[in-house]
Amino acid sequence: MTLNIELNTQNISRDDIKECVKIHRKEIKGGLLNTFGDKFLIKIYNYILINDSSFLIVAKKDGVVIGFFAGCINQSNFFLNFIFKNFFFMIPYIWKIVKQNLYNKILKIKNFFLSNKYLLPNASILNFCVKNDFQSMGIGKLLFNKAIETFKKNNIKSIKISTGKNQEKAKKMYLSYGAKLINNNLNSNNNNLEVIFILNI
Ligand SMILES: CC(C)(COP(=O)(O)OP(=O)(O)OC[C@H]1O[C@@H](n2cnc3c(N)ncnc32)[C@H](O)[C@@H]1OP(=O)(O)O)[C@@H](O)C(=O)NCCC(=O)NCCS
Repeated sequence: MTLNIELNTQNISRDDIKECVKIHRKEIKGGLLNTFGDKFLIKIYNYILINDSSFLIVAKKDGVVIGFFAGCINQSNFFLNFIFKNFFFMIPYIWKIVKQNLYNKILKIKNFFLSNKYLLPNASILNFCVKNDFQSMGIGKLLFNKAIETFKKNNIKSIKISTGKNQEKAKKMYLSYGAKLINNNLNSNNNNLEVIFILNI
């Protein structure tokens, strides 16, 4: 079957971003970012698109978004810069973090990354999804190969990958690319354990 997939890194529209968010919501159950809702996710994907240290690759079939890859060349400052640049927008979310005690989860992740600072690469996958009906057809590999090409163009030699413990297809895929498992049980959220890999590219 010919799939005729188009990969876009430019001319990504606001509607394309909304589609990415819809796919994100459907394919990534749980996770901290999901607790903040669509408006927040749209803001962060728009930021990924315009920020110099991040990139977005969108896969389309017949003009419709069916998957995407969001990557980051330098994650250390990515989220902090996002918060500073969108401070007023962030106030209700910061309040939600305080009110719902979410900072414990954030601290656990932050501490893990800090204590492994010298081991973990600064480049990372921010998110990567293919719409359910189109999974297992090779579209993930198309996106991933294009992403590796983009990382390499930016002189990146290794990337950090964190995914949900129950994301079986993703874990199998990363291992098939030679990723090394670093942590199998990062307890960032009681119902949502994280798995951390490093992939040399
Ligand atoms: C992970 C994901 C993006 C892969 O996209 P995809 O289009 O399904 O991937 P492909 O068809 O190109 O397959 C790539 C690899 O994924 C794994 N994979 C795909 N379908 C699979 C299945 N049904 N069972 C097990 N592994 C599978 C395999 O390793 C496969 O490589 P192979 O064909 O050489 O065996 C997609 O499955 C997805 O969106 N999953 C839910 C969201 C997610 O977990 N994202 C990762 C967040 S970091």
